[in-house]
Amino acid sequence: MVKLNTAENSLKKNLKVPFFFAKREHKVLKKELVQSISKSFLHGQTLQGPEVNILENKMAKFIGKKYAIAVGSCTDALFFSLKALGIGKGDEVIVTSYSYLASATCILRCGAKPVFVDVDLNGNMNLKEIKTKVRKKTKAIIYVHLYGYFQNIDALKKIIKNKKIFLIEDFAQSFGASRKKIRAGSIGKISCTSFDPTKVISAPGSGGMAFTDDKELRDKIIKLRYHGKSNNGDHDYLGMNSQLSSMVAASLLVKMKKVRVNQIKRILIAKKYINGLRGLDIELPPLYTNGQHIYHKFVIRAKRRNALSNYLKHKGIECLIHYKKSLPELTIFKKSRSAACFKRYKKFF
Ligand SMILES: Cc1ncc(COP(=O)(O)O)c(C=O)c1O
Repeated sequence: MVKLNTAENSLKKNLKVPFFFAKREHKVLKKELVQSISKSFLHGQTLQGPEVNILENKMAKFIGKKYAIAVGSCTDALFFSLKALGIGKGDEVIVTSYSYLASATCILRCGAKPVFVDVDLNGNMNLKEIKTKVRKKTKAIIYVHLYGYFQNIDALKKIIKNKKIFLIEDFAQSFGASRKKIRAGSIGKISCTSFDPTKVISAPGSGGMAFTDDKELRDKIIKLRYHGKSNNGDHDYLGMNSQLSSMVAASLLVKMKKVRVNQIKRILIAKKYINGLRGLDIELPPLYTNGQHIYHKFVIRAKRRNALSNYLKHKGIECLIHYKKSLPELTIFKKSRSAACFKRYKKFF
């Protein structure tokens, strides 16, 4: 055990390319970040202060939606979206079987049933299979733009056309990706993104945002994020405490200015990798230089995955497996098939 730790430690020391490296970005932006954050301290409104409103307006405009609602995380934004759409017990929500678990735990949390759909080789939900999963009980589809890739989902729009099925986009990994001038996050009835420290725009802490064109939904999500508080000071809705701090918003405002430049840099680096690694016995991500893939994750598929991972580690290049298990394999979703689990969740919501 001690030996293993020592080996791990020495590997960490020799790390030339760490997987997460917000430190470098913070060093580059230090002056602007300190200035912006200091301002947010001076007015004293530490939660939901003016920076949060400014951020919401800027982000809504950037994505191409009327409203943006800042919340504590994308996990919350997804849950609030389902609640605001009235989804609950007896309903089914179609979701990918391959993503970060928050893309689907929101469904359990509101008492509905996740219906998992397998993925294509690019990691995104298989559009043809979705069709076979739509039933009377289907109330929504959560589409995840995984790894930074904004797939053409016109076929999905056709499937739900003239049906009362809401499309929710989870673009936690694809902020800024676009296809034919349409941005990820601009298609869904509600779309949700994340500012978790590992994401495209990383917060010094947690943060998320929901986007919609529907004022009624926006008002509901605003209530859900703060204990169902209405304008007259009453609380008429069971909500949570999921506010964004002004300090986080202040730093996100600085980072937002760099989105396009960083995106171009990532695409150029991805292009270098793709061209340089071509011909090896591995599957590389597709090359898009037009912004349809922003390479939030540069995912390689390899038959000898563990050997490759160890080789890279010894070269000082950290890599992780995204994801080790599919969602239906996780205990939380296995359990959810039993009524007992729904009862447990019902106690909370
Ligand atoms: C696809 C996806 N959805 C949702 C989330 C949850 O985001 P947050 O950490 O802001 O709750 C993540 C975060 O890793 C994610 O990758």
